[in-house]
Amino acid sequence: MICFKDLSFTYKGEKAPALSEINLTVEDGGFLGIIGPAGAGKTTLARAITGMIPHHYTGDFYGSVAVNGLDTVDTSIDEISRMVGMVFQDVESQIISPLVEDEILYGLENFGVPREEIPQRMAEALQKVGIADLQERSIASLSGGQRQKVAIASIIALKPQVLVLDEPTGELDPRSSRQIFSLLKELNEEQGITVILIEQKIMLLCEFAKQLAVVSGGKIIRQGNTRDVLAHADELQALGVNCPRVTTLSRMLSEKTGAAQPVCINLEEAEKMVRRLIG
Ligand SMILES: Nc1ncnc2c1ncn2[C@@H]1O[C@H](COP(=O)(O)OP(=O)(O)O)[C@@H](O)[C@H]1O
Ligand SMILES: [Mg+2]
Repeated sequence: MICFKDLSFTYKGEKAPALSEINLTVEDGGFLGIIGPAGAGKTTLARAITGMIPHHYTGDFYGSVAVNGLDTVDTSIDEISRMVGMVFQDVESQIISPLVEDEILYGLENFGVPREEIPQRMAEALQKVGIADLQERSIASLSGGQRQKVAIASIIALKPQVLVLDEPTGELDPRSSRQIFSLLKELNEEQGITVILIEQKIMLLCEFAKQLAVVSGGKIIRQGNTRDVLAHADELQALGVNCPRVTTLSRMLSEKTGAAQPVCINLEEAEKMVRRLIG
């Protein structure tokens, strides 16, 4: 479980807090989507989970963050990284090896995974992300999207209990993005891995995340079940967060028909609603 209690954080040398009074709990096996405009504090939130804040990024830190009951202030980044795997927004700063297989190997060796297990773990991670054919390639020869997939594979290979992904599909086309989201769903449902996903692709996010947190100006302005959060579409729109079109559609139909329609969060639901209204 991840638990933020009244966390406020101001980066050293900055005046304004990047996060203010964050209270957030992510249960084991949860799938939380985090949305919000640029500069809202989403990446800062992720850094606070992994302990990079306050261990690596220093500043004024109030309140607490606990990972599996361990206070991140008292726990080393190393120890936290055995529970929480993070895919950085800036993939270039995450990848350190010249070759794809070395990148995957590096983490596995660091974690002391037995030698005989390594080939299997590597093959499985590459295959799950759909890049088995890239194993022997040099990182320099890869596209941005392929690098993003390597970063994801290198973290998945470590089998963390909690996965934090900071805009992991920014460089990916819609098909690859969906493939990554499906993989996260599989890891979440079949292996019980907790997923915390910061994402701009809200339509996809709403389809996959069980919970949403909306961040703006360093605060969580709304959190809850995906559907309940989407019911506040006006609020999201005002922040510049676009709602999925199916959600907008259900809202417009509520207004036009004068009867409250349920908030739709995927195409299937929208289709059902439209059929019911026509019928
Ligand atoms: N390393 C840093 N040092 C100082 N300020 C930072 C640093 N990283 C982020 N910030 C500031 O913290 C605020 C939140 O940034 P960030 O968490 O990156 O937002 P988001 O990921 O939602 O775009 C912004 O005002 C940003 O300028
Ligand atoms: Mg960010």
